[in-house]
Amino acid sequence: MSRIVIVSNRTPGKGPAAGGLAVALRKVLGNREGFWFGWSGKLTEQPQAEARIEDIDGLTVAQVDLTREDHHAYYAGFSNSILWPSFHLRLDLATIESYWYEGYRRVNAQFAKALMPLLRPDDIIWVHDYHLIPLASELRNLGARNRIGFYLHIPFPTADALYAIPHHAELMRDVSRYDLVGFQAQRDVAAFTDFAQHQAPSTFGARAIEAIDFSRTDVAAFPIGSDPEAFSRLAASPAAKKMIHRMRRSLGDQALILGVDRLDYSKGLPQRVEAYEKLLANNPRLRRNVHLLQVAPPSRDTIKEYQETSDTLDAICGRVMGHFSEPDWSPLTYVKRAYGQPSLAGLYRMARVGLVTPLRDGMNLVAHEYVASQDPADPGVLVLSRFAGAAEIFPEALLVNPFDTDETSEALRMALDMPLEERKERWQGLMAAARTHNVDDWALRFLDRLAPGTADAGSHSRDIIYLDSVA
Ligand code: F6P
Repeated sequence: MSRIVIVSNRTPGKGPAAGGLAVALRKVLGNREGFWFGWSGKLTEQPQAEARIEDIDGLTVAQVDLTREDHHAYYAGFSNSILWPSFHLRLDLATIESYWYEGYRRVNAQFAKALMPLLRPDDIIWVHDYHLIPLASELRNLGARNRIGFYLHIPFPTADALYAIPHHAELMRDVSRYDLVGFQAQRDVAAFTDFAQHQAPSTFGARAIEAIDFSRTDVAAFPIGSDPEAFSRLAASPAAKKMIHRMRRSLGDQALILGVDRLDYSKGLPQRVEAYEKLLANNPRLRRNVHLLQVAPPSRDTIKEYQETSDTLDAICGRVMGHFSEPDWSPLTYVKRAYGQPSLAGLYRMARVGLVTPLRDGMNLVAHEYVASQDPADPGVLVLSRFAGAAEIFPEALLVNPFDTDETSEALRMALDMPLEERKERWQGLMAAARTHNVDDWALRFLDRLAPGTADAGSHSRDIIYLDSVA
C-alpha cells in the first residue's frame, strides 16, 4: 500500500499540539506507513538543505529549520499578514508588503528540495493549508509525478479579496498543479468555482496573463471534524469532573456561557463580549445568574493586528466588568492561556451555552468539541456564527450573524431560556452531524478521493486524545 506523506507548516511536537490541524492529522498517520514533513520550529543562520528525521511519540517526522529572515517573510509576513486576513475577508487588516512573497516562495522551494529525496514514486502527498500553496508546483518542477492533494483549512476568499493579494495569479496557477483540492465547506467550493470560471483578465504591466486551466484539478468540500466519541468520554472523565467541581464551587448555580478561541481577530471576540454586555443590559434578571468565561490563548502575537485585537478585548472586558460587577459578583472571566483537552471537555460539558461566533472561519472545531462533550440528559445550546464552516453541518445550532450584536444577544437569551426538551432535540441533531463528520472519516474521504483504494479502514481502531485543539 502506498505511503502517506503529510506536509504542513507545523509538525506535531512532543507535548501539547498547537491547534486543530495538528490534532486531526496526527490520527491519520496512526495506522498507515508514511511520515510527516514540515518546519522544525527552529530558526538557524543558514537555510537547511536536508530534513532531519525523528521519531516523535511513534510518528516519523522529517523537519527542516528555517532562517529567521525567511521564516518572518513566509509565516508572519506573506502567510499571516496577507493570506490570512485576505482569505478571512479582512483586507483592512492586511499589510501588503509584496517582497514577503519571495520569502514565502523560498521556503516552499526549500521544503520541496528537502522533501524530494525522501519520496518514493507511489507516495501519496497531502499538503495542508495556506502556508504551502506553491508546494506542488515546486515538487513538480523537481520531477515529482506523485498524486498530490491540498487541503485548505481556512475559508476560500471571494474573487475581489483574492485579487487584492500580490501574485494571486501565480498562486492560483500553483493550485492548478494539485490533483485534488479540498475545502471545508460548500461556500468555499462555490467561491473557488466562481473564481475559476470567471477569471478576470488580469494584466501585469502590458502583458495579459493567460487564464488558468483547472481542468486536471478535482475540487470538493471535505468538512473536517473532531473525535466526538473520545470527547464524549473525556467530558465524563475524572479530570473533567475535577474541573467541573472547581467551577461549580466558584459559580454556584450561575449558568455558564463559554467561549474558547485563539486570540485572533477572525474570532469576533470584541463583538461577542459586546453581545454579552447587551444581554446583561437588556435582561437585569440575568445579572448574578449568568457568567461568561472566555478562554483565549494568545496567537501570532508578534503581528501588530493581533496585539491590537488583544488590547481591544482587554478594554471591552474591562468596560463590562466595571459596569456590571459588584463587590460579590463578576459578570465575566477572561483567561489568556491554553488549557488541556481534559479541562476543556469539563468546561464544555458544564457550559449551558457554547458561544462560537467567529466573523469568518474555515470550520471551527470548538463547535464540534462543545457538542461532543454535552451530557445527553441535560445538554447545553450551541450559539454559532453563520459564517463558520460548521454552520453548514450544524443547522440545529442557534445560528447568528456575529456582526449583529443585538441578534447574538437575543440568541444568548433564547439559549439560556430554552426548555430541556428543545435542548435535547437540537443536541441530538448536532451530535449526529458531529459523528457523521468525524475526523477519521474526513481523512479517509480525502485520501480515497485523492488516490482511490488507498484509504485504510484500520484507522478507526485507534483512539487518541491530544491536548489543545483550539484552531
Ligand atoms: O486554523 C488554521 C490554522 O493555521 C491551523 O492550521 C492552526 O492549527 C491554527 O490556525 C494556529 O495557527 P498557527 O500555526 O499560526 O499558530
